[in-house]
Amino acid sequence: MSQMSPMNPIRHTVALCFALAAAALLAGCERPPVDSVQSGYRGTGMEQVYNPRTLAKQLPLNQPPAPIASGAAEGPKAKDVYQNVKVLGNLSVGQFTAQMVAITAWVSPEQGCNYCHNPANMADESKYTKTVARRMIQMTQHINADWKAHVANTGVSCYTCHRGQPVPAQTWYQPLLQDKHADFMGNRNGQNAPAPQVNLSTLPNDPVTTYLQGNATIRVAAKTALPTGPSASIQATEGTYGLMIHMSQSLGVNCTYCHNTRSLGSWAESTPQRLTAWHGIRMVGDVNNDYLVPLQSTLPVTRLGPNGDAPLVSCTTCHQGVYKPLYGAPMVQDWPGLQAPVGGNLLPVAAMMASPAGLAPGAMAPAAIAPGGTAPGGTALPPPLSEGSRSVLYFDVGSPTLQAVQSAGLAALVAELKAKPAARATISGYHSASVTPAQNEELAKQRTFGVRDALVTAGIQSNRVVLGKPQQTAANIAGEDPASRRVEVTVR
Ligand code: HEC
Ligand code: HEC
Ligand code: HEC
Ligand code: HEC
Repeated sequence: MSQMSPMNPIRHTVALCFALAAAALLAGCERPPVDSVQSGYRGTGMEQVYNPRTLAKQLPLNQPPAPIASGAAEGPKAKDVYQNVKVLGNLSVGQFTAQMVAITAWVSPEQGCNYCHNPANMADESKYTKTVARRMIQMTQHINADWKAHVANTGVSCYTCHRGQPVPAQTWYQPLLQDKHADFMGNRNGQNAPAPQVNLSTLPNDPVTTYLQGNATIRVAAKTALPTGPSASIQATEGTYGLMIHMSQSLGVNCTYCHNTRSLGSWAESTPQRLTAWHGIRMVGDVNNDYLVPLQSTLPVTRLGPNGDAPLVSCTTCHQGVYKPLYGAPMVQDWPGLQAPVGGNLLPVAAMMASPAGLAPGAMAPAAIAPGGTAPGGTALPPPLSEGSRSVLYFDVGSPTLQAVQSAGLAALVAELKAKPAARATISGYHSASVTPAQNEELAKQRTFGVRDALVTAGIQSNRVVLGKPQQTAANIAGEDPASRRVEVTVR
C-alpha cells in the first residue's frame, strides 16, 4: 500500500519525458536494418555502413545505358565525307554515325539530332549546343586518355554525367555571393548558412570553387610538433572538412572509405581509394579550368549561375551517390571516338600519373605507383645545369622528388619562362637501364610530372608545359651514374 508514494505521478512524468527524449534522439538515427562491411585492417574500425533503403534508391539511378552498336571501322573516313568535322574526323563514317546516334541517346534522346544540328545543313554551326558538344567530346577524350589514374579503363562517356538529359542533374554553381551592402559586414566565408552540399553543417559552403576549380591547399594537420612554417589556418581546416563532406556524399561513403581516422593525413594508413580520390581532385580541377570555365562565353545566360559563373563539374556530377559511377560499368571500351583524341589534334598536356607531392604513397597504396629502387642515401647530386635553351635537373636513386639542391635550377627555369611569355617548356625524363625498365620508365614519368607541377605551382600556365616521353639512357646497368637520373627541360 505504502508503495504508492505521492511522488509517483512526478516519476511517471519524468520517465515519460526520458522515453520521449530517447525516441526523439533515435529518430535522428537510421532505422534498421543497416549493414556494415569492413574496409580496412581488423581493429582499425574502418568500415562502411550500408542502408538497404538508400541502396534501393541508388541502384535504379545508376544503371548503365542500353547498349548501342558502335559501327564498323572499315570504309571512308568521316573527314573525307563531311565538311565540318574537327575532332572525330579519323573515325570511319560507320563509327561516326554510330557515335552521333549514341550521343543523341546519352544527351538529348527527346530532342534528337536537332538539339545540336540545323536539319537543313548538318555542317552548320549556328546552334551553341553543337559547339559545346564538340568541346565535350574533347573533354571526354582527355579524361579517358590522360586521367586513367582516376577513371582507369572504365572511363567515362557523355552518359556518365548526362544520363539522358541535355543538362546533367548534378552540376555546380557558386552559391550566391554574400550581400555585404556597403561592406559594413564581415565576410562569413560561406559559413553559418547550412547548405546541403556540406550536409547542412556550418562549414564553408563552396568547396567546389575553392578546391575543385581553385587549388587551395587541402591540409589540416601540421607536419611538425612545433610551428615551423606556414601551417593550416582554422579557415583552411574548415574548408577542407567541407570538401571532405562533399566527397563522402558524392560517393555515398564515409570517411573511413579513404582514411584511417586515427591519422587523417597519413598516406601509409590510407586505403588505395584515397589515392584514386587524390587524382580525382586534380582531374576535376583540370576539367573545370580547361573545359567548363571557358564555356561561360558560349553558354546562354540562362545556363549561368547566380553570379554569372559557368556551371562546374563536382565529384557528384559523375558519381551521383555511388563509389564508382554507374557501379563501374565500362563506358568507353566500344567507343574509339571517346577513348583518346582521334582527329589528329594536338594532345593536351598529360597529367595522369603524378602522386601526392613529396609523399610516397604508403603501404596500402597500389604497388604500380610506388617507384622502384631505394635511395642509398648520401649520394651527392650534381648541381642543376643550364646551357642555352636546355636545363637539366638531377634526382636521387629511385626518387621522384626534386631535392632542394636543384631548386636554383627550377627557379632559373621559372624566371626564363616568365621572361619569355610565348615560349613553352618541354620536359623529358631520363632513366637508367637498371632494375626493371617498366619501373624506371614510371619513375622517369613521375619526375617529369613533378617538375611540371612545380612549374605550374610557380605560376606557369599548364598549357605552356609539354611532356615528352620517358627516355632510357645508354646502358648504365649499375644505375649509379647520377647523370642518367635526370629531367631535361627545353624552353623555346
Ligand atoms: C549533342 C550534340 C549532337 C547531337 C545530338 C548530334 N550531333 Fe551530329 N555533330 C555534333 C558535333 C559536335 C559534330 C562535329 C564533330 C566534329 O567536329 O568532329 C557533329 C557532326 C555531325 C555530322 C557531320 C556534318 C558535316 O558535314 O560536317 C553529321 C552528318 C552528324 N553530326 C549527324 C548527326 C545525326 C544523324 C544525329 C542524330 C542521330 C546527330 N548528328 C546528333 C553534335 C551532335
Ligand atoms: C564530366 C561530366 C560531363 C561529361 C562526361 C559530358 N558532359 Fe556535357 N555537360 C557537362 C556540364 C557540367 C554541362 C553544363 C551544363 C549546364 O549548362 O548547366 C554540360 C553541357 C553540355 C551541353 C549543353 C547543353 C545545354 O542545353 O546547354 C551539351 C550539348 C553537352 N554537354 C554534350 C555532351 C556530349 C556530347 C558529351 C559526350 C561526348 C558530354 N556532354 C560529356 C558535363 C559533362
Ligand atoms: C574518397 C576518399 C576520401 C573520403 C571519403 C574522405 N577523404 Fe579526406 N582526404 C582524401 C584525400 C585524397 C585527401 C588529400 C587531398 C590532397 O592533398 O589533395 C584528404 C585529406 C583530408 C584531410 C587533410 C589531411 C592533412 O594532410 O592535413 C582531412 C583532415 C580529411 N581528409 C578528413 C576527412 C573526413 C573528416 C572525411 C569524412 C567526412 C573524409 N576526409 C573523407 C580523401 C578522402
Ligand atoms: C568525370 C567523371 C568523374 C568525376 C568528376 C569523378 N570521378 Fe571518381 N571515378 C570515376 C570513374 C569512372 C571511376 C571508376 C574507375 C574504376 O573503375 O576503377 C571512379 C572511381 C573513383 C574512386 C575509386 C572507388 C573504388 O572503390 O575503387 C574514388 C575514391 C573516386 N572516384 C573519388 C572521386 C572524388 C573524390 C571525386 C571528386 C574530387 C571524383 N571521384 C570525381 C569518374 C569520376
